[in-house]
Amino acid sequence: MAIGLDDVIAAETILSHVDGEAGRLIIRGHDLEELAGHVTYESAVAMLWDGLVPLQGDPRAVFGEARAGAYARLSPLAAHLKGLTPVEGMRLLLAALPDSERDHASLAVGAAAVAAAMAVRGAQGLASIAPDPKAGHAADLLHMLRGAPADEGEARALDTYLVTILDHGLNASTFTARVVASTEAGLLSSVVAGLCALKGPLHGGAPGPVLDMLDTIGSADRAEAWLDAAIARNERLMGFGHRVYKVRDPRADVLKVAAATLKGRDNRIAFAEAVEKAALAVLARRKPGRRLDTNVEFYTALLLEALSVPREGFTPLFAAGRTAGWVAHAIEQARAGRIIRPQSRYVGTWPAEAA
Ligand code: ACO
Repeated sequence: MAIGLDDVIAAETILSHVDGEAGRLIIRGHDLEELAGHVTYESAVAMLWDGLVPLQGDPRAVFGEARAGAYARLSPLAAHLKGLTPVEGMRLLLAALPDSERDHASLAVGAAAVAAAMAVRGAQGLASIAPDPKAGHAADLLHMLRGAPADEGEARALDTYLVTILDHGLNASTFTARVVASTEAGLLSSVVAGLCALKGPLHGGAPGPVLDMLDTIGSADRAEAWLDAAIARNERLMGFGHRVYKVRDPRADVLKVAAATLKGRDNRIAFAEAVEKAALAVLARRKPGRRLDTNVEFYTALLLEALSVPREGFTPLFAAGRTAGWVAHAIEQARAGRIIRPQSRYVGTWPAEAA
């Protein structure tokens, strides 16, 4: 029995497919590379939701209205964010929304962007910023988060990021969202559950620690020795390894290209490339046969850093992009109409033995 459910097929989906041997991600029939950097997040969500969630009108306007509606509900809660990390604050805000309501799918996506920005600012003691319903989703998210308008290149880079992380097969948070949806608990409950699963460092909590690792390494000439010592201490290198990908995660390259278009910190991309090269060499030597390669989180960290997002805000931004995926999976699962209820094998004591 595989404790981590490796290779178990637990759902049928039309939404996305991860080919771990080919290093390929397909979303609604399109390779990731056809979408990321080519379509806006709003149109990618509309495409993902096609046939599952009817959108009334232009997706940009729908999600603009959704952000405005979410802000009207969530802004009174800003005072409660004090003392919480951004991801905890986001959890609090999303948990305050009702489960069943008209347009609750688009409300969830609007609310996720608003909640991510509010929670990041709230954790820094900063006032929240109202959305602009007329703006593009990525540009508005950056504005709400940083308090200053994003330039075109920044908005495009965040758009690329949000599309890249839109959906990704039956990862831990998506599976969680589907389990909750299968009980008919409701859409917002599925999204909150997805967020709770995402926040762990083995899943969506990794990019902040990637930057911590780069900071600790400090310079390219120290990389190999530092990484080797980390593996010797039995630590995991953040931003490497994946349950499904046995080759390079295709999202890593898309994000590397997008990050390179941003100025960010001088030479940070070149430094990251040097660390990545050293890490792959150390992993191949220390963990032969495990086929560990770079995952999405390594260049996520570089991209979001170059957008001046504080590192505690990386996971909330990931969740803001992935919410549309959780919503689609929750609705697809609810249509399947069967509660997810696997079995466990009892290895404890039987009453006769205990007596
Ligand atoms: N660094 C060092 N060793 C690693 C790493 C890593 N990042 N990942 C896996 N390994 C090693 C394990 O220690 C194990 O070694 P062993 O055979 O000597 O015991 C071997 O590779 C197999 O590892 P598993 O635990 O079976 O791999 P699993 O599929 O369970 O883990 C995971 C996948 C959780 C992503 C893992 O690779 C990891 O912890 N990576 C670091 C955290 C990270 O980057 N998370 C983001 C993932 S992407 C996402 O979720 C959005």
